[in-house]
Amino acid sequence: MWERLLTHVRRLAARGYDRRMGRRDDLRDQDRGGIVIRGPHLVLRPLRPSEIEAEYQAMVDADPMTIAEVPDESAFKSRLRRSGRLEDGTLDLAIDLAGESIGRIQTFVPPRRRLRPGVFTIGIGLRADARRKGHGREALALLTDWLFEHAAADRVEAPTDPANVAMRTVFDRVGWTLVGTFEEFGRDWVMYAITRAEWHARRTVR
Ligand SMILES: CC(C)(COP(=O)(O)OP(=O)(O)OC[C@H]1O[C@@H](n2cnc3c(N)ncnc32)[C@H](O)[C@@H]1OP(=O)(O)O)[C@@H](O)C(=O)NCCC(=O)NCCS
Repeated sequence: MWERLLTHVRRLAARGYDRRMGRRDDLRDQDRGGIVIRGPHLVLRPLRPSEIEAEYQAMVDADPMTIAEVPDESAFKSRLRRSGRLEDGTLDLAIDLAGESIGRIQTFVPPRRRLRPGVFTIGIGLRADARRKGHGREALALLTDWLFEHAAADRVEAPTDPANVAMRTVFDRVGWTLVGTFEEFGRDWVMYAITRAEWHARRTVR
């Protein structure tokens, strides 16, 4: 009787410990398989099924300046159900801070452009209350490094609105450069990029 009670108390204590450390979800993410990228403060990991609806709502509510268009709901949600896997140039990861998702970072294939092999396009969005705390910069640096180190990237690029000062500053801080402007979806975009040679040169001086 006492032994069973003691075992029960120990189990509860262990659960509390796991919750404090955010470890239970972390272990579940690993159990599900998929890509996990760890940084000093953030973990980029597969989205949990319970997070998919909030991701779609984030797209619906997004400032139109920050997205090309609101995606088709069912295609978007089924893409997020495959989160954590790099398939045909597409990868979606939650940006996790202390066990909670604060946004999403992804590679995607633009619908109206063909990408050469080795070229990846990145997109990122943080919840409003998670912005301007250095997380965008860390998340972009982590995924950029991972694509060059593990996905044979030759060049990593991303478009943004010319007026998106936050995104442009993050590109700048992470060592990307402005490589051009173009028109798509009836509006102007600036394109930022980093090549493998530039990334390598930057790493050697870090
Ligand atoms: C764009 C975004 C990812 C940037 O991430 P973030 O975490 O807010 O940016 P950081 O805190 O890492 O900031 C990095 C630098 O940019 C600067 N910065 C960030 N937001 C800024 C803003 N709104 N105006 C001016 N500078 C800004 C920071 O001061 C910091 O500069 P520093 O290195 O001199 O300190 C984030 O703001 C976001 O999700 N915005 C909405 C979605 C979006 O625009 N996505 C991009 C679509 S292409």
